[in-house]
Amino acid sequence: MDDPQFRKLLDFFGLSWGGYRKVRKGVKKRVARHMREMACRTVEEYLLALEKNPELKKQAQQLMTVSISRFFRDRALWQTMEDHILPVLIDSPKQKIKIWCAGCACGEEVYSVKILWERLRGRYAQLPQLELWATDLNPELLDRAQTGIYSLSGLKEVPEEWRSRYFSQVQEKHFAVSDFLKEKIFWKVHNLIADNPPGTGFSLIFLRNNLLTYYRDELRLPAVRKVIESLFPLGFLIIGAHEKLPPGLQTLFPFPHHPTIFQKTPTSPETNP
Ligand SMILES: C[S@@+](CC[C@H](N)C(=O)[O-])C[C@H]1O[C@@H](n2cnc3c(N)ncnc32)[C@H](O)[C@@H]1O
Repeated sequence: MDDPQFRKLLDFFGLSWGGYRKVRKGVKKRVARHMREMACRTVEEYLLALEKNPELKKQAQQLMTVSISRFFRDRALWQTMEDHILPVLIDSPKQKIKIWCAGCACGEEVYSVKILWERLRGRYAQLPQLELWATDLNPELLDRAQTGIYSLSGLKEVPEEWRSRYFSQVQEKHFAVSDFLKEKIFWKVHNLIADNPPGTGFSLIFLRNNLLTYYRDELRLPAVRKVIESLFPLGFLIIGAHEKLPPGLQTLFPFPHHPTIFQKTPTSPETNP
């Protein structure tokens, strides 16, 4: 598949050319295989087939997703989480803290939150209840997340001591996350563009390396607005290291300790009671 054909596919799904720059080759391969299976000789034929059959369209959309992730991706961010964000949440009067990892791929980010929460258990007499929502467009990735087996490369930012405490080795280069970390996680198929958030009253939302990287401008703003609506006043939104928020969001202000963390204004139209 050449680049102009690939562009047609991206346009069809509202995806961004720039976002797919580094991963184009692999995605093209997957889609080309799907086209062959459906006996489509051109992208035009393929798109027509997708338009006629919502199930095939869903399959194609999942093939376009990129699942690259790793535990404690952007290590400095997780230090800020440990030093500033989680302590603020823990010290708040809330008895239950709701966190949402949107577009969580195979769960590396989700279990990173869980591990950090476990680390803090030793520092506080009592922690509030943690309700963790983990969503992704691609159900296959969520299945893999729930199985919780990861290759060594995904664990390269996990300190050795944490690796032996929170994982067990299942093969030469594969590790399984401990079962107790899997508790109280709500896994759900969710489309950031088409669906409403999986709940309201979140204190912290991870929105990293998905919507803001892979989608076109016109789809990003309404989708981010919906995400912000589900945040509590003064709740935190975390975006990816190379991402920017779309202009026009008045309800967020930068958090001083890290450039990819934003906080919701105390009162705003994008606020839940
Ligand atoms: C590169 S991974 C990012 C994983 C993790 N957030 C991180 O930063 O390490 C991108 C994920 O976003 C998901 N995704 C893409 N489009 C989505 C959408 N419209 N709604 C929900 N998830 C989406 C993909 O399925 C994929 O798992």
